Amino acid sequence: MKLEVSALHKSFGGLPVLRNVSLEVEGRAIVFIGPSGGGKSTLLRILAGLEHPDSGSVRFDGNELAFREDALRQHRRRVGVVFQSANLFPHLTALDNITLPLTRVHGESRKNAEDTAMQLLERFQLADHAHKKPAQLSGGQRQRVAIVRAVAIRPAFLLFDEPTSALDPEMTAEVLDMIVELRAEGRDLILVTHHLAFARKVADRVAFLAEGQILEQAPGDQLFAAPRDPTVIRFLERVLKY
Ligand SMILES: Nc1ncnc2c1ncn2[C@@H]1O[C@H](COP(=O)(O)OP(=O)(O)OP(=O)(O)O)[C@@H](O)[C@H]1O
Ligand SMILES: [Mg+2]
Repeated sequence: MKLEVSALHKSFGGLPVLRNVSLEVEGRAIVFIGPSGGGKSTLLRILAGLEHPDSGSVRFDGNELAFREDALRQHRRRVGVVFQSANLFPHLTALDNITLPLTRVHGESRKNAEDTAMQLLERFQLADHAHKKPAQLSGGQRQRVAIVRAVAIRPAFLLFDEPTSALDPEMTAEVLDMIVELRAEGRDLILVTHHLAFARKVADRVAFLAEGQILEQAPGDQLFAAPRDPTVIRFLERVLKY
């Protein structure tokens, strides 16, 4: 996937959150890292078509994303999004959480939707949990169901915003393994994570976002092995210390 972001600005209540963000990257896995409050989630929400920038443009594989409601609605149908907490509907089973977007948004028959969902649940060792509601699942299982839901719509690419930050280490590993597997099968991913070892492993390109600006972008290994920007160097030293 080729992602081109040009001169993106976004303020909330007069406070700038993204300040002239420009980026041109190509790769299967594009990863954003950086300090809390730096604007990563805001950027991801814009890329997901969930938020309008104040100005600037976004292109995926050369196609400009038009920030009009009809075009954004169209765009959102093509993107599989997974947030920090799974956002599953609590009153629906895992299976129904996955089939709902397929039948309601993508116009699939109930039968097709269930076939797709069950295949994916089996593939990711979740079939035993198909008929449980979110409260009956572990945090890791919930998040993996949310990933299955995002994959089931056959998205052009997947967007993850800190998908493991609410999980303990073992559940985190389960979820990260699943993301590694999705990448290995050739899916395009855009990901925000604070797991730097994971970022390094999975990323084709890493961009460092702080105070609403991209301070550095490089191939994954390069940014971690030989960061150049002083803020990036300080951040990595601090975060990799423990
Ligand atoms: N809807 C909103 N209304 C007002 N301010 C917002 C809104 N969304 C984000 N912000 C502010 O924008 C700034 C950037 O937030 P954002 O969530 O994009 O950062 P982040 O890099 O994802 O941080 P974290 O690593 O903690 O998730 C923060 O100061 C936040 O308070
Ligand atoms: Mg965030």
